Amino acid sequence: MYDRIRYMNKTIISPSILSANFAKLEEEVSAVKNAGADWIHVDVMDGHFVPNITIGIPVVKSLRKVTDLVLDVHLMIENPEKYIEPFAKAGADILTFHYEACRNEEHVIDVIDKIKSLGIKAGISIKPKTQPDVIYKFLSLADMVLVMTVEPGFGGQEFMHDCAMKIPQIKEKSPDNLIIQVDGGINNLTGKICKSLGAASLVAGSYIYGSSDYKKAIDSLR
Ligand code: DX5
Ligand code: ZN
Repeated sequence: MYDRIRYMNKTIISPSILSANFAKLEEEVSAVKNAGADWIHVDVMDGHFVPNITIGIPVVKSLRKVTDLVLDVHLMIENPEKYIEPFAKAGADILTFHYEACRNEEHVIDVIDKIKSLGIKAGISIKPKTQPDVIYKFLSLADMVLVMTVEPGFGGQEFMHDCAMKIPQIKEKSPDNLIIQVDGGINNLTGKICKSLGAASLVAGSYIYGSSDYKKAIDSLR
């Protein structure tokens, strides 16, 4: 399901269902799949780590039953270690947690190890104000780094150009197989900037789900 080789020369597009119509999620997921999406980005917010509450384990479990796309789960939550196993059992393929939700380096390493021990992929994310050097020591352990280009919490915000400059800095320090993903304010123009800086995966919520033609929107991100 998650095969780096398959994606080697192709930008991985991960539509964020945060901007989808939650009353018809199955249709919204199959619509982006038919439009060419590679992954499905699931934004989990707990009202503590970010000032918003979204969806959690039961939704991942339900989505797992209706799609074979990679479920790319972005945990914007405190105490991520408590929820790794339930999300893995629910069917997440990738679990990305926030560096800022961890107490210290040991905590970061424990969370990565726990995710990988369950046979799924581990992503580590940094918020706009976090400098990239703090995660360099984890780049050989993680499968993915998610660079936030907006403050996490809400869809539809404006892309922060400064944050994108972290992409080449992280890439320079990364093993070849580490995926750099960007999330926040991605559209055809900002997506192009991120790709040229070295991002392999683009998350887009409002740009895709807010468009009248999902295929056209996804194609424009490639
Ligand atoms: C923000 C979320 C994003 C969000 C992106 O906290 O992590 O995934 O859905 O939405 P857009 O693409 O609209 O900025
Ligand atoms: Zn996200």
